[in-house]
Amino acid sequence: MTGAASGIGLALAQRAAADGMDVVLADVDEPGLAEAVAALGQTSAVEVVSVRCDVSDPDQVEALASTTHERFGSVELLCNNAGVGGGGAVAELSRKDWEWVLGVNLWGVIHGVTSFLPKMVESGTPAHVVNTASMAGFFATAGMAPYAVSKFGVVALSESMRAELAGTPVGVSVLCPGWVSTRIHESERNRPAELTVERPPRADEMRDMIRQVIESGLPPAAVADKVFDAVQADRFWIFTHPEMVRATTARQEEVLAALDDLR
Ligand SMILES: NC(=O)c1ccc[n+]([C@@H]2O[C@H](COP(=O)([O-])OP(=O)(O)OC[C@H]3O[C@@H](n4cnc5c(N)ncnc54)[C@H](O)[C@@H]3O)[C@@H](O)[C@H]2O)c1
Repeated sequence: MTGAASGIGLALAQRAAADGMDVVLADVDEPGLAEAVAALGQTSAVEVVSVRCDVSDPDQVEALASTTHERFGSVELLCNNAGVGGGGAVAELSRKDWEWVLGVNLWGVIHGVTSFLPKMVESGTPAHVVNTASMAGFFATAGMAPYAVSKFGVVALSESMRAELAGTPVGVSVLCPGWVSTRIHESERNRPAELTVERPPRADEMRDMIRQVIESGLPPAAVADKVFDAVQADRFWIFTHPEMVRATTARQEEVLAALDDLR
């Protein structure tokens, strides 16, 4: 589980442990990892290992895969979940903003599948990959370009994987949540110093707006339950907010309406 020290990742780890699975928690937040391991250790009899891992760094993800294979031999469930929320108007964003958000949200998932998937396929035993995208993988709204680009990418990657893995014992699902009550609005806490930029003038105002919707979101444990149901049933799409999914048809209708202009 990447991004396992908080929010959805922590809830996935808790659910996995409750189901009797040994878990490897990976995250950049070392104090958060220590707390998560202590909490899981108290409530479950499974083996819980934590690894400090920045998913945007391929070497660290490769080391995570090696540690996991040495310790447990094989991986039944890989959750590429770590992510950060980053926004701003395209005309005002710097390369560092793009690098940070795409590095974690998109490259993090790419590194995860590159380092883990070959062995999962090779083993020939049932296994499953869950990539965390977002409803932002369907909607590109103002002020959210890096996040939306990263999540469209995760949806595309997952759809390609589904086609490639058809007929193998390795399943894939893409998790596309709406609002979930986590610490995503505080993502700046994890931005590395070398990718830090001067905060744009309306950054705090934006964060407070996002905090309100996030706080009214679903509990992470409810999302984890949907993920485990989907893995068990080998369902590709995992949605949490039906009204947001229904709203995606507006984009498709707009695309189809554009065909009228070609006539
Ligand atoms: N909360 C929502 O409303 C929501 C909606 C849609 C999608 N998501 C996605 O869910 C996933 C989990 O986010 P969350 O909402 O639980 O937020 P969160 O901030 O509570 O948890 C994210 C975790 O990722 C970790 N992380 C950040 N950068 C990392 C890095 N470089 N390497 C490894 N770990 C790193 C953080 O330390 C944190 O523990 C993200 O991919 C996010 O985009 C969240």
